[in-house]
Amino acid sequence: MTSIVISGSGLFIPPHTVTNEELVEAYNAYVQKFNAEHAAAIAAGETQPLPESSSEFIEKASGIRSRYAMHKDGMLDPDRMSPNFAPTMEGGEPESVTMALAAARQAMEQAGKTADDIDMVLLATTNHQRPYPSVAVEVQKKLGIKGFAYDMGIACSSMTFGMISAWAAVRSGISRCALVVNPEFTTPQVNLKSRDSHFIFGDVATACIIEPEETCRRTEHAYRILSTRQLTDFSDNIRCDGNYTDHCFDELPEDRPYFIQQGRKVFKELLPLATDFITEQLSESGLKPADLKRMWLHQANQTMNMFAVKKLLGRMPEGDEAPIVLDEFANTASSGSMIAFHRYQEGIEKGDKGLICSFGAGYSIGGLLVEKL
Ligand SMILES: CC(C)(COP(=O)(O)OP(=O)(O)OC[C@H]1O[C@@H](n2cnc3c(N)ncnc32)[C@H](O)[C@@H]1OP(=O)(O)O)[C@@H](O)C(=O)NCCC(=O)NCCS
Repeated sequence: MTSIVISGSGLFIPPHTVTNEELVEAYNAYVQKFNAEHAAAIAAGETQPLPESSSEFIEKASGIRSRYAMHKDGMLDPDRMSPNFAPTMEGGEPESVTMALAAARQAMEQAGKTADDIDMVLLATTNHQRPYPSVAVEVQKKLGIKGFAYDMGIACSSMTFGMISAWAAVRSGISRCALVVNPEFTTPQVNLKSRDSHFIFGDVATACIIEPEETCRRTEHAYRILSTRQLTDFSDNIRCDGNYTDHCFDELPEDRPYFIQQGRKVFKELLPLATDFITEQLSESGLKPADLKRMWLHQANQTMNMFAVKKLLGRMPEGDEAPIVLDEFANTASSGSMIAFHRYQEGIEKGDKGLICSFGAGYSIGGLLVEKL
């Protein structure tokens, strides 16, 4: 059976940084205004006062210090509390396309591929900016790639599942070389008026090239895919209900368009699912966690990753064994493990093994066990 490789990756970082302090200042200004405006109802016990947020809580509870945003304008305005940007009209380019193109070009450059080498574009994301025409097809057209393209998504595991779909397509001969793009334009889905979730997400895009080993020309950043594994187990502890039917309803809850989660439940339920998944995937290849040079894990919560590694290795990670990027990027939905992969390849030598693994909404878990060429 042909061996398949990830031959290059790309990372697009949006133009604006938003720190915890900036977010908290805007949120607390919003809260003070709300409480002042509802002072009478609060005093009468008819309305609950809103509690303030804190940067210390955010960093301690999640590990997040900052995030990137495509549109910072409006996010920090207590009278608005949402990014301010224009809707895409006919002929205009959605943010997802701009982001995907930038990440894709880097991945192509790293792998030494031109548009003519690629025949499949898979756009994997949690946040689909429009239902159709497929954003993937616009990316394909703008890169000058022939063949076919499509969108897919399974929330937090969209990118790993996308890479596994590309691996399967290349392996079976459906594609000779696939580009997987992963724009996560998450900030519009964040409820900036919710203390529980206003700090969670940031925008980013990643991309990678997947092809047979025999066509791989640049091995500097190339990894052989040794095994793939996917798991889904339904839970609505992380959800978003907003969709195209919304205009049909006379009344809808205010948080309808936003990301909502039961963070503590998710933490407790997902952690054992993820560690069992990783143990099983490794043992299928006759490996143990200690055989991995690097674990490029999902980036939702730093403590969760530390617990996972401790459970797997029986000790805390050392150096870059399980790198964290969420301090800089926050949770980037399905991009986290690929940001870590793209950024943390130093010190990896030919034959070293690593695991790219996502875990999150669905629940969904995706793993690619790789070996450096
Ligand atoms: C979201 C998350 C960071 C919250 O951390 P947590 O420790 O579970 O915090 P909780 O929501 O239980 O809140 C703890 C307390 O802090 C308070 N709190 C919540 N948000 C706060 C904020 N922004 N500032 C200050 N206090 C806050 C809560 O009200 C609660 O107070 P109480 O104990 O008086 O009731 C954490 O649960 C998490 O990351 N879970 C995993 C999520 C995940 O993997 N999701 C995958 C999505 S891709």
